[in-house]
Amino acid sequence: MKFFADTADVDAIRELNDLGLLDGVTTNPSLIKKSGRNILEVTKEICDIVDGPVSAEVTATDADEMIAEGRKLAKIADNIAVKVPLTLDGLKACKVLSGEGTMVNVTLCFSANQALLAAKAGATFISPFIGRLDDINVDGMDLIAEIRQIFDNYGFETQILAASIRTVNHVKDSAMIGADVITAPPAVIKSLANHPLTDKGLDAFLADIKAAGIKIL
Ligand code: G3P
Repeated sequence: MKFFADTADVDAIRELNDLGLLDGVTTNPSLIKKSGRNILEVTKEICDIVDGPVSAEVTATDADEMIAEGRKLAKIADNIAVKVPLTLDGLKACKVLSGEGTMVNVTLCFSANQALLAAKAGATFISPFIGRLDDINVDGMDLIAEIRQIFDNYGFETQILAASIRTVNHVKDSAMIGADVITAPPAVIKSLANHPLTDKGLDAFLADIKAAGIKIL
C-alpha cells in the first residue's frame, strides 16, 4: 500500500519523505489556501521533494478549461497528477489528459458508480472520500470495498486512493480491504507508529540499559 501525504505543507512533506514513508502527495484548493502559497510555486517545490505522484487540482469546472489548466499543471514536473472533480466535465478532461499520458486523479468520489465512470475515463487514481461519508453517517469503508470488487471484477487498473482519511483505523481498514493508496494528513501517518505498550516497553528497556550500563558504541 502506498502512503500519500494530504497536505501542501512543505516542511511536513520533507519530514515524512526523510522518514522514508512517503510515496506521493495530494493537494486540493483548501490545502493550497491553508499553505498561503502560490499554487504553481508550492506545487513545484513539492514535486522537487517527492519522487512519487503529486496531485494538483484544477480550478475550472468546464472541460476545456480543465484540460488547459491540466496541461499547464502537467508542465510543472513529470510526477504531477492532475486532479479533476468527479463531474461529467471532469471525466471528459480525465479522458483527454490521460490520453496525453498525464496521470489523472479523479476526486470527490462518493459512490461506486462514480468510481466506475472514472475507471472507464482512464483515471490513474480515484479518490473516494471516507471521512466525509462518515460525517453523514454512511460507512466510507463500504464504498472502498464496493470499488475494490468492481475494479477486480473487470481488471480496471485505476488505483483506489482512499482519501479524507481522518483516523488510524481508516488506514488499517483501507489496507484490509485492499485500497492501493491512502492519503492522510501527516499527523495521522506519523501516529500509525504509536502504541502505549511500545512506550511502556521502551521505558523498561531504557531503565535496564541505564542500570546495567549496557553500551554498544
Ligand atoms: O484528499 C481529500 C481530503 O483532503 C479531504 O479530507 O478531511 O477535508 O474531508 P477532508
